Formats: sequence, C-alpha cells, structure tokens
Amino acid sequence: MDQIIELFPIPFMRVEKLLDTESIEAIKHQFLKSVKNTNAKSLQLSHSEMLSPEENPLFKDISELIIPKLCEFGLLMFGERLSWSIKEMWGNVLQTNGYQAMHNHANCFISGVIYLTPSHPSANTIFMKGPGGRDFAFSHASSQTELGPFNADKWVSPDVTPGDMVLFPSYLLHEVRPNLGPLRISLAFNAIPTRLDSWGYAIGFSR
Ligand SMILES: [Fe+2]
Repeated sequence: MDQIIELFPIPFMRVEKLLDTESIEAIKHQFLKSVKNTNAKSLQLSHSEMLSPEENPLFKDISELIIPKLCEFGLLMFGERLSWSIKEMWGNVLQTNGYQAMHNHANCFISGVIYLTPSHPSANTIFMKGPGGRDFAFSHASSQTELGPFNADKWVSPDVTPGDMVLFPSYLLHEVRPNLGPLRISLAFNAIPTRLDSWGYAIGFSR
C-alpha cells in the first residue's frame, strides 16, 4: 500500500481550558491596570512589564499548571522529560485594529500563549514557515490550489476559548493580523530547560 510519511513535522500543542474563570479574571484585571508599553509597530497593542513567576503568587500558581505541559511538549522536541522553567511572562492587550507583526522569540526554546478573552477569528494567531534564504522561489497557488501541510506557508490557529493555551517551538514565526473584533487579552511566556546534553556536550540555562 502507498504511504505518505510526514517528514520532520513541527509540534504544536493546544491545551483547552488550562485556566479556570477565577484565574482568568484575576490576570485580566492585573493586565488591564498595568499595561503601559505600547508596541513599536501597532499603537493599539500594549504589553505589560516582563513578569517573573516568582514575583507574584498568581503567576506562580499559573506557572505550576503550565510546567507539566512544558515537560510533555519538551519530550517531543528533545526526546526526554527535562526540567523546565518559565523565564518570563507578559500580558498583551490588543484593541480593535491592533496587530502583532511577524516575529519569533529569542533566547528560549518553548513559547506559549494563554488566551484570557475570546479572539475574533481575524486575530487568531497565524504561524508561518521561515522566509528562506536568497534562493529563487517557485510557487504554485491559485483558487484551484488545495492547501495542505506540504504546500501551505501559513497556518491559522483554531478559535480559542478563554483559558486555552498553545505551546510552540520558540523559533516558529507568528503574527496576529489586525483585530476586527473587541479587546483581546493574552498572557505570553517563554520557557527554558535547565540543561541540554548531547552525548556529553552539555550546556546549562538559567534566567
Ligand atoms: Fe510572540
């Protein structure tokens, strides 16, 4: 029988309802009163200060819910249940027409987002393949084209419910297109393992 094998796929984890309503409301309240850094590209997007989970019992409790999922996801990335910690967390408050330009996260291995409000479908996070180098590019795309995992260069993440979390490798490019819906609030974070060890060539990480 013919077989199609998906070579070298990228993991992406979706965890439904990681947070309960009480925690969602508490964090939303915290972000709404503390965001102050306007995004460099979109005036309708603001960020909180970088937060460390140890600084605040609320964020510590949330990080304790996240860490087992990081271990599970890290097993897919590195083949072993490593010890993971959250390096930083921050809040994103996206007003109508705000957007987040394409980016990825430096100096970390797993990144994640927890949605604290619904997200209008126009503002669902979009993940994309890297733009490549300086090679000439050939493409075949039209209204007749069927898009699938081997020819698409973008993937729109599914609709979310408040409390849902997604995890993705930090190198993965992503963006949020202009939000055509109401206020959308999310908590983002970056995580690192304590140590990576390739046959004795080891390196440790800490905040
Ligand atoms: Fe991001």
